[in-house]
Amino acid sequence: MKKISYQKMANLVVAKRKEQKLTQAQLAEMTGIHRAMVSRLEALDYIPSIDQLQAVAEALGFEVTDLFEEENPVSYKPVLDKKYNIAVAGTGYVGLSIATLLAQHNHVTAVDIIPEKVELINNKKSPIQDDYIEMYLAEKELNLTATLDGEEAYKNADFVVIAAPTNYDSKKNFFDCSAVEAVIELVLKVNPDATIIIKSTIPVGYTASVRAKYNTKNIIFSPELTKYTHVIFSNVIKHLIPSM
Ligand SMILES: NC(=O)c1ccc[n+]([C@@H]2O[C@H](COP(=O)([O-])OP(=O)(O)OC[C@H]3O[C@@H](n4cnc5c(N)ncnc54)[C@H](O)[C@@H]3O)[C@@H](O)[C@H]2O)c1
Repeated sequence: MKKISYQKMANLVVAKRKEQKLTQAQLAEMTGIHRAMVSRLEALDYIPSIDQLQAVAEALGFEVTDLFEEENPVSYKPVLDKKYNIAVAGTGYVGLSIATLLAQHNHVTAVDIIPEKVELINNKKSPIQDDYIEMYLAEKELNLTATLDGEEAYKNADFVVIAAPTNYDSKKNFFDCSAVEAVIELVLKVNPDATIIIKSTIPVGYTASVRAKYNTKNIIFSPELTKYTHVIFSNVIKHLIPSM
């Protein structure tokens, strides 16, 4: 559909008025529009009435129809505009809820080191007790495969979400991030271009340290949600992945 382009109107009025060596005051006098309004019209700060526009067009010698333009269809490009290959490392509460949700719209491979978990997920059964995950696995059409073969899963991934365990030893005041790091190393070995998103709990400064250690900018941290199971799940539903 064609619509008046007010940008075109402002540009044309300024160009024609200057071409004819008219001041804004003179144009105002010729059209009966207040001079301040002529100024605002040229600054795209005032939309004239049809009669005023007609008067300006006649004074400056153009057709109102010159201002019509085919309206550009508004193209909202969703950020996630394609199906991604996503690998999720770790199928505990965190990893499996994320994998389940993302598998509605993407190809997701869930990686774990425990064969029983992998088998259960591939049989659409949840290895953990969680009503939502159980229901989603059983009832939703998910593009989700589980595997023990991290290398294969990471090789083809656009994103790798790390939800491997990190244990804090309060006696030694030490965060054991070895499982996270094992995944990082494997991803960097087979697919250094993948974006690695750490969901695991990690100490302050850890992301910067691994980015420096492995000389990559592709590692980012997604901050903690509040709690496990339903709270995580409903948070994800409400705030992070609206297109449920
Ligand atoms: N970001 C958040 O919102 C959030 C919220 C709660 C917990 N967490 C953190 O997320 C992490 C995971 O929590 P969880 O409760 O799901 O843990 P979990 O222990 O229930 O599950 C971790 C899974 O990772 C698997 N795993 C271990 N090493 C692996 C490897 N190298 N590759 C692939 N899989 C591997 C384990 O077998 C296990 O199934 C923890 O660090 C936890 O503190 C994050």
